[in-house]
Amino acid sequence: MFENLELITADTILGLMAAFRADSDPRKVDLGVGVYRDDHGETPVMEAVRAAEGALVAQQTTKTYVGPAGNPGFNTEMEKLVFGAAHPALKAGRIRSIQSVGGCGALRLGAELIRLAAPQSVVHVSTPTWANHVPLLSGAGLELEHYPYFDATSGGVRFAAMLGALEQLPPRTVVLLHASCHNPTGADLSPDEWRALLELVKRRSLLPFIDMAYQGLGEGLEADTFGLRLFAAELPEVLCAVSCSKNFGLYRERVGALHLVSETAKAAEAAMSQLVKLARGMWSMPPDHGAEIVRRILADGTLRELWEREVTGMRTRIQGLRRELVGQLREQYPQRDFSFIAHQRGMFSYLGISTAQVRALRAEHHVYMTDDSRINIAGLRPENIGYFARATAQVLAA
Ligand code: LMR
Repeated sequence: MFENLELITADTILGLMAAFRADSDPRKVDLGVGVYRDDHGETPVMEAVRAAEGALVAQQTTKTYVGPAGNPGFNTEMEKLVFGAAHPALKAGRIRSIQSVGGCGALRLGAELIRLAAPQSVVHVSTPTWANHVPLLSGAGLELEHYPYFDATSGGVRFAAMLGALEQLPPRTVVLLHASCHNPTGADLSPDEWRALLELVKRRSLLPFIDMAYQGLGEGLEADTFGLRLFAAELPEVLCAVSCSKNFGLYRERVGALHLVSETAKAAEAAMSQLVKLARGMWSMPPDHGAEIVRRILADGTLRELWEREVTGMRTRIQGLRRELVGQLREQYPQRDFSFIAHQRGMFSYLGISTAQVRALRAEHHVYMTDDSRINIAGLRPENIGYFARATAQVLAA
């Protein structure tokens, strides 16, 4: 049966991870996969996670099933973290939440629900968007289209072009938005842009599907939810896919949630019953270990404070690296303005070099980034940032 299947190359980000691991050069720099790294190039277990996990292991009395919606305490804590405890949609009982297998699971589950409710749905994603959005959404049978987003000249958002494109969409079209820390460009919408977008989404009756994988790593835990909270308060329906991979450092535990905002509590209940059925048909029940760690952190004052401090530390470090990189690049290659990097948010920026230059950086300098020149800023550190800037200047000058 399988003899006709073609051999395909690995997903670009995963392929890059493998190539980096296989490179034995001590100068190698990994700016590929979106994983937070500290000043030593490590991705350590966060202290709050270690404490919560220790207590969990010591106190857990059973490993029996939890259920297809996952850990109820986790879902409740995540609602408060994502929307804010006093959010009007939460108070009105319009939000339902289901634990998922990472943010990817949430995206796929949301896509499956859209397909179930309206099989002909088209999802519009930003140009560019995270590479894995495409298989996750189209794998559920949804058609994908693109709207203009990134302005390579300014390093910001082509907001007028984005609005112009979305204005043409028929009612009920799904628009995938990044809550903050846009992946792969780092170019985010401002609060005023979110407000303007809200008016358009209302007027055109579009369905926003908001992906939030980096809460806390852009401007702050609250600030990064600005658009998401606004939309959830003002619109009848919103889908939000949330990941705990980066801000809790729980990558391999696969922890995430899908939050559904419905017009009424009754509609929310019905949609939730469908989500539970869909989840049961895909992974039956999500793994509990990471979710219980998150629940414990968010529900415990001391652990939460520790975690918030750690998130602040990660964000501040990334912001500092952005400024430092702009300075180093200015020194090494003053002919080009890289100041946009300091204005962008989150782990990623496009360096804005050609694929041939990306490949030259990899081959000649052992610097790894995706072919579109997306760099993971957190992969830089005091020891390699100068090397990286010099290497970039060399390939630009070649
Ligand atoms: C990334 O964008 O590099 C991360 O979200 C990791 C992944 O799974 O692609």
